[in-house]
Amino acid sequence: MTQNLPASPAVPEQLRAVVTGASSGIGAATVRRLRAAGWDVVAVARRADRLAALAAETGASVLVADVTSDDDVARLAAEVTAGGPVHALVNNAGGAQGAAPIASSALEDWRGMFELNVLGTLRVTQALLPALVASGRGDVVVMTSTAAHDTYPGGGGYVAAKHAERQIATTLRLELIGQPVRVIEIAPGMVATEEFSLNRFGGDAAKAEAVYAGVDAPLTADDVADAVVWTLTRPHHVNIDQLVMRPRAQVSNTQVARA
Ligand SMILES: NC(=O)c1ccc[n+]([C@@H]2O[C@H](COP(=O)([O-])OP(=O)(O)OC[C@H]3O[C@@H](n4cnc5c(N)ncnc54)[C@H](OP(=O)(O)O)[C@@H]3O)[C@@H](O)[C@H]2O)c1
Repeated sequence: MTQNLPASPAVPEQLRAVVTGASSGIGAATVRRLRAAGWDVVAVARRADRLAALAAETGASVLVADVTSDDDVARLAAEVTAGGPVHALVNNAGGAQGAAPIASSALEDWRGMFELNVLGTLRVTQALLPALVASGRGDVVVMTSTAAHDTYPGGGGYVAAKHAERQIATTLRLELIGQPVRVIEIAPGMVATEEFSLNRFGGDAAKAEAVYAGVDAPLTADDVADAVVWTLTRPHHVNIDQLVMRPRAQVSNTQVARA
């Protein structure tokens, strides 16, 4: 009697990811973790020197591009797709500018945050979506923030931009129904990265340090990278829609335990 034998296990394919904002913080940590998990990675940012160091350390490929530039992102899509299939895009490039109240915040800061967090994520996602669908096993990760879920005084422009960025993820997931692409939102609270707060406060180190002062163990870039890679490495029928994570010391956007 013949038996229905189980199909032979599929040969594991080589997975390949593009990570934006890879020259520091969460993006660089995500590149390290994906490389350690065996992925090919294209690390994207504007600073070539930092990318070169990351490439030497991890073996990632690098691509210098500004996600707010149409030309750069068109070049990125052409170069990345010429290099083979793309299975994951981690839209991590982003950040905050200023912490002024609504009444006095600078239009230019808001414009910059929308250009980077919202339109940057949209632009790169649009450019790589055909390749992600064509891979037959695609993932779009959107690095939002707890600022995408609730507000705080002085958060205005960043909160608005991250809320908008979040809706790229929620809407795209609906629009991709039936396609082999997951859409995953990662929303961290306070993460002590070397540049995020420094950039937010225009290089003012004292203001940047005050953000984390007395906080027992803010999240690290690696904590967030760990979460990103966990979502990407679930079986592909499992879509982690949204992962909100904070340090234990931070219970909301406005309440943080400080020594
Ligand atoms: N740190 C936090 O507390 C926190 C909390 C929640 C969410 N997040 C989000 O997590 C993401 C990463 O944050 P992080 O803390 O790791 O920040 P970070 O250390 O300041 O890193 C930001 C990265 O984005 C890149 N970048 C900035 N503008 C870019 C542009 N126009 N084109 C391409 N790359 C650009 C930067 O590299 P180049 O300057 O070399 O381009 C850098 O690699 C952001 O989306 C942020 O909003 C951060």
